[in-house]
Amino acid sequence: MPETLDADTVTALVVDATAAPSMHNAQPWRFRFFRDSRVFHMRSDLERSMPRADPTTRALHLGCGAALFNLRVAAVHAGWEPATRLLPDPQDPQLLAAVRLDAPVTADGDLAALYPAIHRRHTSREPFTEEEIPAGIRDELCGCAILEGARLVFPSAWHVARLLDLVHDAEGRDALDPAATEDMERWTRIGPDARDAPTDGIPDHAFGPRQYDGKAPVRDFAGRRPVAGRQAATFESTPQLALLGTVNDRRADWLQAGQAMERVLLQATLDGLATSLTSHALEYPELRWAVRDPQSTMGFVHMVLRLGYGPPAPGTPRRPVDEVLELATGLSG
Ligand SMILES: Cc1cc2nc3c(=O)[nH]c(=O)nc-3n(C[C@H](O)[C@H](O)[C@H](O)COP(=O)(O)O)c2cc1C
Repeated sequence: MPETLDADTVTALVVDATAAPSMHNAQPWRFRFFRDSRVFHMRSDLERSMPRADPTTRALHLGCGAALFNLRVAAVHAGWEPATRLLPDPQDPQLLAAVRLDAPVTADGDLAALYPAIHRRHTSREPFTEEEIPAGIRDELCGCAILEGARLVFPSAWHVARLLDLVHDAEGRDALDPAATEDMERWTRIGPDARDAPTDGIPDHAFGPRQYDGKAPVRDFAGRRPVAGRQAATFESTPQLALLGTVNDRRADWLQAGQAMERVLLQATLDGLATSLTSHALEYPELRWAVRDPQSTMGFVHMVLRLGYGPPAPGTPRRPVDEVLELATGLSG
């Protein structure tokens, strides 16, 4: 094992990290690698935050937590043991995590098994079938969340119906808010904009079809804008949803929840499941509170996941690594 990592290896690790999901594919992260101490710093990029939909930056932390999880998986896959500290410097709130790479890998062998899913996982806004997810797979996914200090719960039928109402409520509120339309326009790429090799945002090929029947809580990123060639389709009538949450609601909890979310998504991908995320109802504090199951011990919900069986989803673009990675000499962390 070499003493440190060459630039190609560091770049490859960051390519893997940045395959993570982020709200509207804004990719609100930056990485710095300190060669001599083999430490990655992951920082938030507040220029890519969403003050209207995400005024607390909770969603930003979730996306960065997912990128951090991918980095850990990729490091183990490459033979390095990651030692992670969340929010290591209280004086520097944009420094979200420090990851020191120790060699060789001694534990966490199960992380490497998730590696093949990093670039196969994509958000699917396609209809899923009505096929039920076996109980064994659900249990395994709940276990993934626990391993990262979070909880995943599959709500009962009445609670799913309530969630769908809350998402509907959020959609109605957005429709009346011009700032929501502005956000959507900033982060979506339609027609020529989508063909022009964008490096962030959601291109129209990832919108999925328009929903004319079914109950899947899938955000329509086209809004009222026409998209050439976009079809309409029937979605599943009994969506299989899961709530991901933590006991507390602090920044470290958000980063943990983001790591748990990605662990669940990667495992689900390996299990042959299609996945999508719905944060809509969580963007309004009064709706977010109602999303929670009052009988559950989950204190705060961070994400609603939709899981099931469906066609493979297309990928979305990522920014070139040289825009998000800085190689530094010297020691840190
Ligand atoms: C915090 C957060 C919130 C998200 N909210 C939604 C959502 O409400 N609806 C949706 O379709 N996708 C949502 N996504 C998924 C992103 O749009 C998706 O990750 C991004 O476009 C990149 O695409 P990919 O997941 O296929 O790599 C969310 C992702 C994150 C991390």
